[in-house]
Order: sequence, then structure tokens, then C-alpha cells
Amino acid sequence: MNAASPATNPHVPVLLDQVVEALAIAPGETHVDGTFGAGGYTRALIEHGAARIFAFDRDPDAIQSGEALVSSSGGRLTLVPERFSRMRQALSDRGVDAVDGVTLDIGVSSMQLDQPERGFSFQTDGPLDMRMAQAGESAADFLNHAGETEIADVIFQYGEEPKSRRIARYIVAGRPIETTGQLAGIVRKATGHKPGAKKDPATRTFQAIRIHINDELGELVGGLAAAEQVLAPGGRLAVVTFHSLEDRIVKRFLKERSGALPAGSRHLPAANETGPAPTFDAVARPVRAGEAEIAANPRARSATLRAARRTSAPSWTSPKRGSPQ
Ligand SMILES: C[S@@+](CC[C@H](N)C(=O)[O-])C[C@H]1O[C@@H](n2cnc3c(N)ncnc32)[C@H](O)[C@@H]1O
Repeated sequence: MNAASPATNPHVPVLLDQVVEALAIAPGETHVDGTFGAGGYTRALIEHGAARIFAFDRDPDAIQSGEALVSSSGGRLTLVPERFSRMRQALSDRGVDAVDGVTLDIGVSSMQLDQPERGFSFQTDGPLDMRMAQAGESAADFLNHAGETEIADVIFQYGEEPKSRRIARYIVAGRPIETTGQLAGIVRKATGHKPGAKKDPATRTFQAIRIHINDELGELVGGLAAAEQVLAPGGRLAVVTFHSLEDRIVKRFLKERSGALPAGSRHLPAANETGPAPTFDAVARPVRAGEAEIAANPRARSATLRAARRTSAPSWTSPKRGSPQ
């Protein structure tokens, strides 16, 4: 386990005021922060009087660094070392069936990105790891064993990289690949990258492999379904995403579940074909960061917040059938 080093930049929460407004936290409520990270949203939940907060993170380092906040929260904060797609079961294990708010802040934290040994970034060389949970298949395991077509598909789908086939060919020819610097070099060679060019092509490939290794889109789909199951009528959902692949999933989920789309899709199958009652209303317009926030925190540039309110209709995926738990 790697506790965040003091040299790590603190994670600055994105769209914090807007998330707080969307969650409309009332004293005495129970909330879920599905992505604890450095605890930016959880601190706000505490400050706004939430009586019980269950903060999830799949990264043991994030959970470890949150222990001080647990101690100072006066018993209000419980850290849950779990994936947020499993929130229904994890809450039920703790005697909680319904909550007043769920917030998800998708992606990696600054602590994860800034620690070379976690292998998320190619700015500093490190082992090719990229596992948020620090368990399971690493990026190196995947790239050194998967077939060329599978690697190309991952880079194309999750990185929207037009040169994915060529990059995959270079990766397979360059095995074994053990470090982030090695992978970045291979991608640059495959794409004919000129040093000093504005955007490093390795960015898209790194994003794609990270999404694949952590099943980030599957987690998001599962997390939205789980939020639908645990939110009490009138409960609020707030989701911050950082790229279009994620935002599309949230946008479609909220459109579908609020009745603005015909039910059923490849990613979000409907529970039945007859049109179940909407489970969300008051779907807010997407919110993006203003210039001042982007200037202070460049990560905010690509952030989108979507929020909605739970109705009293039954959730579309029952815990027994088709849910991710
Ligand atoms: C962008 S950071 C959250 C930052 C947090 N809102 C803050 O203000 O400090 C995302 C965090 O969510 C965690 N995470 C990502 N996907 C997860 C999942 N499916 N389940 C649980 N935690 C997840 C990551 O490990 C990371 O710590």
C-alpha cells in the first residue's frame, strides 16, 4: 500500500459548490460519496450537516488517508473500501437500505496521477500498473498477454484513437513492456509524434488502457443502477465526469430513466418493454466549470456535472435480476 507522499499535490475538488447545490444537503440526512479520493466532497457533506456519510473508494490508499477525517467526524463518516457499483450490498451490510443523496466524481485523483509508482502517468517513468484497487490485472499484464486485435479495440473504443491498429502492432512488437515511459515511447513512435507537438498522442492510449484495466465504464453503468436502487424518493444524484464516453452514459441514463428516451439500450437494458415509470425527475442541465475555476484547477476544464432527483417509482433493475451486485 502506498500512502500518498507529502510531495503529492493535494486533489482539488472539481465543481464543489455546484455539487453541493445539486445535492441540496439537509441536516440529519444520509449520503453516499461514491468516490472519496481526498475527501473533498465528503468534507462538504460533513460541513453541511449530513448525519451519516458512507464514503466509498476502491483504492486502499484513499481509504487509509481518510482515517483522520473519520476520527474527526464524530462518528458520522464511514469509509467503505469497495467499488461504488456494489453500494447497495455494502450499505445493506451496514444496515442501510435507503439514502438521501449519492455523488460520484468519476476517474482518477491527483494523488493517483502524481505517484509514478501507480503507473497512471507518463510524465515521470514508473511501473506500468494503473490499477486503482491495487489488485487484479495490471496494464503491463494486459499489454504483454492480450492479442493485437484486443489491444487495438481497447485503444480505439476507450481512447477514440484513430491510429489504434498501428499502435497495437508496435506494442506487440515491443513486448515485454514494463514501464510507462516505455509505453509512451512506443505510442509516439507508432504515431510519428514530433517532440514539442501540442498534444502527446500517448494521452489517448493511456486513458484507454486505464479505462479498460479498471472497467471504468462498466463501473459507471453499475454505479448509476446502484444509485437508483439505494436513493429514497426525493433523493438526489450528482455525477461529475471527465470525458465524453462517461458523460454519454450518464446523459443517456438520466434521459432514459426520466422518460425522455425510449426504454432499453445496449448499455442500459430496460427492465421490461412496456415502459416502466420514470425513476428520476428534475433532471438538471449539464453544468461545466467557469473560467476562474479552470484557471485555478486545469482538471476542471473537461468536467461535466449532471444531477437529478429520485422519484418514488421502483428501480428498473431489481437487485435480484440484472443488477451488478
Ligand atoms: C476524481 S477522484 C475523487 C475526488 C474526490 N471527489 C475529492 O474531492 O477528493 C476519484 C476517486 O474515486 C475512486 N474510484 C474510481 N472509480 C471507483 C469505483 N468504481 N469505485 C470506488 N471508487 C472509485 C478513485 O480511486 C479515486 O480515489
